[in-house]
Amino acid sequence: MRKPIIAGNWKMYKTPKESLAFLDAFLPLVEDHTRDEILVCPTMSSLGYVLEATIGTNVRGCAQNMHWLNEGPYTGQTSPTMLVSIGCRHVLLGHSEQRLYFNETYERVNLKLKAAINHGITPIVCVGELLAEREDMKTEETLRSQVRAALRNISANEARRLVIAYEPIWAIGTGSTASPEVAAEAHKIIRHEISHCCGEQTAENTRILYGGSVKPENISALMQQAQIDGALVGGASLVPTTFANIVHYV
Ligand code: PGA
Repeated sequence: MRKPIIAGNWKMYKTPKESLAFLDAFLPLVEDHTRDEILVCPTMSSLGYVLEATIGTNVRGCAQNMHWLNEGPYTGQTSPTMLVSIGCRHVLLGHSEQRLYFNETYERVNLKLKAAINHGITPIVCVGELLAEREDMKTEETLRSQVRAALRNISANEARRLVIAYEPIWAIGTGSTASPEVAAEAHKIIRHEISHCCGEQTAENTRILYGGSVKPENISALMQQAQIDGALVGGASLVPTTFANIVHYV
């Protein structure tokens, strides 16, 4: 019922030329693939090129961030209307690198989430605990408060397109993945909190992706967990064959 999503987060990698070269190699490798939704998240400078090159394919381009207002004196920002105008229908919100290095807050993520919903953009909201929080047995409390803050005043109807990515910060770019059981446990906590905020039906329908050192070697075990509805892949999404191997998990 919850169609899995495999999303590649390219972070601050790939020029437009490199992005198009990736797609040239990648699109033929996944062209018959219908089991999962496939997304790539390029930088803003490559997004328009990627959206154009993927028209009529089974791959979609996703923005890595956006502002919540339509326009204004906000240097360096891109608005939801601007994303829609270039055909972008997906956005990552609250990625831990935004939270850690650019002071992103869940109050702003909440505003962005509302704006995305109002513009018909599918939001992928990232949550996840620090290593210190896990070691202090604060994982559950952290995840619950992140989900609660992001979903503040969001109705069940508004949340119907919501996607969450559980990305434990200690697993991002470190090579140490959460075990499938640890990830599934966190997903259960997140789903429970969604149910608390937006009702059981919304929780049941919301896709929760796992992210943090996903590779071709560990994707299949992760996807065997009923709680895990896909993956947000950083480093391993930069190489077409590697990312295609992840898409074709068994
Ligand atoms: P990683 O990044 O796969 O390189 O750990 C995941 C992410 O930050 O989305």
